[in-house]
Amino acid sequence: MSNIFTKLKYLLFFLLLTHSYLSCSQNFPDLVAGIPVNYDESLVGEYELPDPLILKNGQRVTDTTIWIKQRRPEILEMFQKYQFGKAPCREELSFRIFEEGSAFDGKAIRRQVTLYFTKDTTAHKADLLIYLPSNSKKPVPLFFNISFLPNALTINDPGIRRGMMRNKEGKLISVPDTPPKNGLNVEKFLSEGFGVATIYYQDIEPDFAEGIRYGVRGYFLKPGSTYPAPGEWGAIAAWAWGLSCAMDYLETDRDIDTRKVALFGISRLGKTVLWAGARDSRFGMVIASCSGEGGAALSMRNYGETIAHIMAPSRYFYQFCSNRAQFADDPRTSPIDAHMLISLIAPRPLLLQTGDSDGWSDPKGEFLAAIAAEPVYRLFGKRGLETKVMPDPGEAILHDVGYYMHAGGHGTLPSDYDIFIKFMKKHFIEDGSQFTY
Ligand code: GCU
Repeated sequence: MSNIFTKLKYLLFFLLLTHSYLSCSQNFPDLVAGIPVNYDESLVGEYELPDPLILKNGQRVTDTTIWIKQRRPEILEMFQKYQFGKAPCREELSFRIFEEGSAFDGKAIRRQVTLYFTKDTTAHKADLLIYLPSNSKKPVPLFFNISFLPNALTINDPGIRRGMMRNKEGKLISVPDTPPKNGLNVEKFLSEGFGVATIYYQDIEPDFAEGIRYGVRGYFLKPGSTYPAPGEWGAIAAWAWGLSCAMDYLETDRDIDTRKVALFGISRLGKTVLWAGARDSRFGMVIASCSGEGGAALSMRNYGETIAHIMAPSRYFYQFCSNRAQFADDPRTSPIDAHMLISLIAPRPLLLQTGDSDGWSDPKGEFLAAIAAEPVYRLFGKRGLETKVMPDPGEAILHDVGYYMHAGGHGTLPSDYDIFIKFMKKHFIEDGSQFTY
């Protein structure tokens, strides 16, 4: 009998322990860089987003001319000053097409071009890799990927020049000879009549705090300074600047319909493509995957990653301009938020792809930002999400502003590319969208 009591006692003790652990882990948030992370909707807090359609002088934007001539430049300037930093003007770009061949059993023409980002052509260069459907008789729309990996590791094609890359110590090493097993599926795009291009982001600037020493930001430092001024460019602005340089080349390539270039990137590169598309209206479409904080997710909403996390000295402060840190304590003091970044892309099509278990990147924060940007799209007669109800995972909204949340975590799934292609077909082919300011 006493044996049963002892067992019951242990069981009770175990249940109490489990209960207190579970309730504790719900109220006790994770810590990142020593800063709590909130994943509880009830603790998100109140915030009021700035109205993208009210000018600094208090007047309302009533037509697209006022938007293009006055409000858009105001917002762009604020994002430059407070988030990404101002990039210098591009120097005259030079480039060299160093290879042209056939790929994927003759289905594609492969073109490899070195872009020289500065007058000094010994450093600061990147290989832009392009595939075009070989059966196309006219210039093709392009899916333009900014990649976490060098070209030879992004796409499985033995014809790609391997080249060099920098390791975390900043040393130049050969790109490993390990072609990807599941690389970017170029053939999927070719079969729909689209071209594909890719560029390696760290060729523009290596992605670590000290990377500035080897990247374009280091090259453009003012004499005597060792770091950009508080309103000058962070690494994301440098990567976006590099994409505009790539666009300078693309505009010279007669096989590409440069009004129909869909810029694509994931995560920090999702933030990059949003900023590149915002500042350079030559990009006809943006597809941003899991861009999260500093990308399409609202910063004023305290959920997942915050400005304080991203700007922590041990984390990604170097990707933004230093001014951004002043909003770390209270993002609600900022004059801008992600919905205004989205609005800078209007009226061009923009697709936000997220993942339902990627709480860190706050998929709901991206959805709410898209809703808040809708009035700007409407001003142009374009369609925002047109709903306040977040779609279920796997359910795509592909209006001029699109939203697609896959069931899963951070990054892309192979099936996401089918949605990207659908979005490109809808807007580039069926609707024939093209817009330049
Ligand atoms: C970190 C960072 C994110 C970023 C991501 C990535 O998680 O906190 O802001 O998007 O890295 O780029 O992979």
